[in-house]
Amino acid sequence: MRFGRPHRHYRSTDSTNARARELAEAGAPGGLVVTADEQRAGRGRQGRSWFAPPGGALLYSALLRPLGERPLLPIAVPLAVCQAAESLAEVDCRVKWPNDVWIDDRKLAGVLIESRPQPRTGWAVIGVGLNLSIREDEFPAELRHSAASLGGDATPTMAVAALNEALARWIEAPAAEVLSGFRARDALVGRPVAWEGGSGVAVGVDDLGHLLIDSGGRTVALGAGEVHLAVG
Ligand code: BTN
Repeated sequence: MRFGRPHRHYRSTDSTNARARELAEAGAPGGLVVTADEQRAGRGRQGRSWFAPPGGALLYSALLRPLGERPLLPIAVPLAVCQAAESLAEVDCRVKWPNDVWIDDRKLAGVLIESRPQPRTGWAVIGVGLNLSIREDEFPAELRHSAASLGGDATPTMAVAALNEALARWIEAPAAEVLSGFRARDALVGRPVAWEGGSGVAVGVDDLGHLLIDSGGRTVALGAGEVHLAVG
């Protein structure tokens, strides 16, 4: 699947994911991309909001339709974001399971996938927020020490093109390639993690993309979207 045709750009909207979902429900074709200079109510995972000053970030939502059977989609998307970011600036990206993109242990990009999984007619909106040129002092105080920006000369227009291309590649990639790509960038291996149900040390992902945790000698598998993870 190719992404970026059609492409709707808003100067300001509440959320590109909300716009893309509306368009999906109205019958928009797969490949649709919605971007914005500014979001007034950007959405993050687990009900959080997503911050970006106008023009400082890529705010991007793509419609994947038909959705088909794609259990590895949550871990394939951040690989596309890494590829796009590394094509735009001299950075080395890692992924904090399931789909935060980090540089130097700080969050560069987040992914919010909202899907309507139905046989034949299912679709997913893939939302990506990628910080491009946000200065440290522009981030709210609570994000200042945990968020990163790409820097360099990359513009949102360049970033859209790079992500359109990288998403097409990673969404169609065979499972073995997605898993090895993820394992090569896994930021959590060997690190202590905690979730609502316990704590332990991350040991990698299984072939379904679940996070494996050694919790006192017992291996626990967590599914994307099920947990809020704290990293030590
Ligand atoms: C996260 O919590 O890490 C996910 C953040 C996803 C933010 C992007 S910005 C573009 C798209 N529109 C939204 O409202 N959210 C996603």
